[in-house]
Amino acid sequence: MKKTLAIDQGTTSTRAFVADETGIHCVHTVEHRQYYPHSGHVEHDPEELLKNIRACLDAAPHIDCVGIANQGESCLAWDARTGRAITPVIVWQDDRTADICDQLHQQGFEPMVRERAGLPIDPYFSGSKLGWILQHVPEAQKLSQTGNLRLGTTDAFFRDRLTGNFVTDPTTASRTSLMNLHTRQWDAELCRIFSVPIEALPQICPTGGQLGNLPNGVPLTASIVDQQAALFGHGARLPGHTKITFGTGAFVLTLTDTLYDGGPLLPTIAWAEDGAQPMHALDGGVYTASSAVNWSREIGLFDDWTQIDHFSSEPAISRGLVFVPALAGLAAPHWDRHARGAWFGLGLDTSRSDMMQAVLEGIAFRVGEILAEMEKQVAIVAPISIDGGMSRNPWFCQFVADCLGRQISVSGEAELTALGCAQLAARGASSELPYKPAARIIEPRPFPADWVAIFQAARQASQQFGLAAI
Ligand code: G3P
Repeated sequence: MKKTLAIDQGTTSTRAFVADETGIHCVHTVEHRQYYPHSGHVEHDPEELLKNIRACLDAAPHIDCVGIANQGESCLAWDARTGRAITPVIVWQDDRTADICDQLHQQGFEPMVRERAGLPIDPYFSGSKLGWILQHVPEAQKLSQTGNLRLGTTDAFFRDRLTGNFVTDPTTASRTSLMNLHTRQWDAELCRIFSVPIEALPQICPTGGQLGNLPNGVPLTASIVDQQAALFGHGARLPGHTKITFGTGAFVLTLTDTLYDGGPLLPTIAWAEDGAQPMHALDGGVYTASSAVNWSREIGLFDDWTQIDHFSSEPAISRGLVFVPALAGLAAPHWDRHARGAWFGLGLDTSRSDMMQAVLEGIAFRVGEILAEMEKQVAIVAPISIDGGMSRNPWFCQFVADCLGRQISVSGEAELTALGCAQLAARGASSELPYKPAARIIEPRPFPADWVAIFQAARQASQQFGLAAI
């Protein structure tokens, strides 16, 4: 078995794991700074991310192959001649392109973008962000005129600088709105409407295989979006196998063998290994999950994590208290950037603990909305596998199982993104990683249907308020 290094370059940190038959072992972890230069803008420093990846490589000197999992839609521009970034990383959460997206909606492009890219027009995806760079960064315009502009998602930047290959993979390209899902190539018409020069984009290459050598001489053998890596790490191999990762956001993915018309969900590439048929997935995200919990702590709803892994009261919703976690708008299946977070049903007797309970419940209800949409297209196979920081919270896990009305499987391995990335990197190096973590099953308990209806009414109100406030 090859000794594999998985690097998980996520929204808040970069972590390195060495994988062998006993499991995956963290060898390096480093957080990076989040920049919020204007309301709704979220940026990372590309050089800081690259430095952190290099530190991960240095932390594991004796390895045979490396996989990198990247943030899905975060993107930037750089100079082809020097590799120097000319913009910050514009992070997937950033909504500076809401106006551009509104205009494209008004111009009637939504059906065409959905048909070709599989995605709604939303600031979440990279296309409008890359177009924004061309409109607002004079250096990008100059470089574009001389053919020296490079545009891409973070993986393409890392790989250009670390392996000398200006490439991306189909899972990441499928998050840009610029790739035609049917051909898995950049689509000239999509690039045109998002004002992205197609010649500045990287080549789209397989997710796994021999992807070039890193500065330490070790081959890169997998490069994939973190959520898709997590789907693989959860053991999804057959259509309907489904996972939910409760990270910064909550991301629900179900594996499919064919490209579905996603409706309000996102058909996406799950992985496309060298020489193999690509696997597809349907994806739906909640923008704020752990970030809503962290925000709750910052505003003083709790101090210690043990305060929120058990509640002695009945669910807040049973007492008429609801929270809609639309702190950055609503993603699937509503795609409403104008919705805003809200509690409904506050009374003089409402405590901080009640409000916090409602926050956790609201995240579970949002995931329930996505799963209900998914079930219309795909036969979801039980149990649904969950991971991420919030899956360590037993009260939350039980509420998710109850709310979804399904068995939940909680893996004994917390790092399923890293595991999936390591498994794919091993396969890319013609090896296998035999480690399979054990899981705990949680059975659902009866859940009143009117609780779902109450949440939906609150969610609609959060959307109406958002519109009224514009
Ligand atoms: O779509 C965004 C996703 O790829 C980010 O995931 O784990 O870095 O928050 P994470």
